[in-house]
Amino acid sequence: MYNLLKGKKGIIFGALDENSIAWKTAERIHEEGGVFVLTNAPASIRMGNIDDLALKTGATVIPADATSVSDLEYLVDQAMIILGGKIDFVLHSIGMSVNVRKGNHYTDQNYDFTEKGWNVSAVSFHKVLQVLYHKDAMNEWGSIVALSYMAAQRVFPDYNDMADNKAFLESIARSFGYFFGKKSKVRVNTISQSPTATKAGHGVKGFKGFITYSENMSPLGNASALDCANYTITLFSDLTRKVTLQNLMHDGGFSNVGVSQEIMEMFE
Ligand code: NAI
Repeated sequence: MYNLLKGKKGIIFGALDENSIAWKTAERIHEEGGVFVLTNAPASIRMGNIDDLALKTGATVIPADATSVSDLEYLVDQAMIILGGKIDFVLHSIGMSVNVRKGNHYTDQNYDFTEKGWNVSAVSFHKVLQVLYHKDAMNEWGSIVALSYMAAQRVFPDYNDMADNKAFLESIARSFGYFFGKKSKVRVNTISQSPTATKAGHGVKGFKGFITYSENMSPLGNASALDCANYTITLFSDLTRKVTLQNLMHDGGFSNVGVSQEIMEMFE
């Protein structure tokens, strides 16, 4: 451990169970000396076991639906009271598509579901940023990270409308990051993570094929949830102060490989 986050305070969205990327990140932040408030949607808190994580990391849990501005306002106010001051880091680790859940094909969407999906997966990030911005809740040189996937740039047919949601999310990070940088030197980035075996990951149709394919395509293999947690910590630390408005590929090299030997051999 490097004490990289000693003295830093934050908010972590999206730890559902021990497989969640946010869960691993919370554990690692705790090990690096950071303190934080945990939050998730009320239904997810009932369904998962976030209280175990809270106990382990000394964190308080504040329920908030990330699509509700009033919930977010309450969350940020409470976080600053509990943590005793402004925030240094925020992790947005939230994604959900109702079309994916209901098995609707990309070409046959229910648009009410589509809207719900982009609201939860992308606009919620704008809402988090806007609440933090207007409350002047971030310390200078603070860092905000959201998690994305490469389907924002390239076609993965079974990723469905989440591909569009991720493109929207990445654009919000750039657009809002500009204003947050100007206002208070806060950086905003997205990490584009490898397929990872979590509840959200398993929701993608054909997930096993998907994760095995990218494992075989990536020279370093897929990045795990723990790898993602470690990368996020560097972005929350003072070592990456000038990294902002970026979509950072964290995928074992997958995104720059045309084809790997392993995949070629399957066709020879
Ligand atoms: P997860 O299922 O453990 O986490 C998703 C979280 O979103 C859950 O904690 C859920 O409660 C939360 N959430 C859903 N609706 C919400 C709402 N209205 N308000 C507040 N929270 C809400 O799965 P995972 O994989 O850890 O997902 C975290 C992030 O990583 C997501 O953005 C996901 O798209 C992204 N990601 C995941 C990959 C994977 O293969 N698992 C790959 C690349 C990115």
